[in-house]
Amino acid sequence: MDIFGSPDFDDHELVVFGRDVKTGLRSIVAVHSTALGPAAGGCRMWPYSSTAEAITDVLRLSRGMSYKNALAGLPFGGGKAVIVGDSRTTKTPELFEAYGRFIDSLGGRYVTAEDVGTTIADMEQVARRTRYVSGLGRKQGVAGGDPGPKTALGVFLGIKAAARFRLGRSDLENLSVAVQGLGGVGYHLCRLLAAEGVQLRVADVRGAAVERVRDELGAIAATPESILSEDVDVFAPCALGAILNSQTIPLLRARIVAGAANNQLAEDRHGLALQAAGILYAPDYVINAGGIISVAREYLGNATDAQVIAEIHGIPVRLTEIFERARREKQPTSSVADAMARERIGRGEKRLVA
Ligand code: NAI
Repeated sequence: MDIFGSPDFDDHELVVFGRDVKTGLRSIVAVHSTALGPAAGGCRMWPYSSTAEAITDVLRLSRGMSYKNALAGLPFGGGKAVIVGDSRTTKTPELFEAYGRFIDSLGGRYVTAEDVGTTIADMEQVARRTRYVSGLGRKQGVAGGDPGPKTALGVFLGIKAAARFRLGRSDLENLSVAVQGLGGVGYHLCRLLAAEGVQLRVADVRGAAVERVRDELGAIAATPESILSEDVDVFAPCALGAILNSQTIPLLRARIVAGAANNQLAEDRHGLALQAAGILYAPDYVINAGGIISVAREYLGNATDAQVIAEIHGIPVRLTEIFERARREKQPTSSVADAMARERIGRGEKRLVA
């Protein structure tokens, strides 16, 4: 595989492979940029079917973290790690200790945390071998811990900003929101929305998750198939990536898409498709930054929980700035966010490889 020539290679500063035969560790770390500080981003454990697939994922995800951290105003660059393996069957404490040694060998250029397939408990094993890790347990009142509720708060505030901008709404009373995915973020988002009088339509592939928000919050259940085309004001994707694509965008009836899922656009061009359809899109890595703000402050050890919450209130401000600039420049919000992030990390236009 020609990594330097790959369309996903965006002048990443470092791509490094970690192997430990004894524990079976196969890991890749990509550092996209350290212009604003050490590269920070989670570690994904996934049963990639090939090394090329793992490389593509880590290159894309690490660039996304550069953008996310830059626009969250954090003193961190962007990086990401992947571990090749099935998180349900191949995890051992020793594997994560070996991963910790690998991370330590990078001398702090990359700071790891949990992501899809890894947990707080795994990061506690990592922390036995390196201090370049965050997303661990925390003490009461101190920044950190489960990032899900913090992400939900940022998304909630982002929905408010989008409703104000697109629909001229000063409150959320009787606004209708379709939430796809009721896990660590989606559930908390539903609670915040319900408390403001929002009418919820919800879907999850787990029936118990749907029953819970229906019983607790009076949400109306939709199916995983119908949730995209519900007749609502806002569609909030909080489950899968690549959910906004050529098949799904024509189905949307919402005028706003604002949710937590990472990498919502299947391809960059789908940002343009949303704009053409008159749908206001809250760029995913801007609206879902509440979790990384919490994880970053935990790592730096310099904030209380109250300060983290205050910082999350910056998310709607940045979103509104993006919405306004997009309207002024007649650009998709996703392109404007990318451009703003690249400006902050001192990069020019995205390099296009023929
Ligand atoms: P989670 O794994 O706790 O919840 C995801 C939920 O989506 C699960 O309940 C799952 O059953 C459901 N789901 C899966 N496929 C579905 C489908 N086809 N239709 C409907 N529901 C489906 O994940 P979490 O932590 O809530 O994160 C949600 C999204 O937000 C993910 O894309 C994640 O990458 C992103 N995100 C999460 C952050 C966090 O702090 N947890 C931070 C930033 C982004």
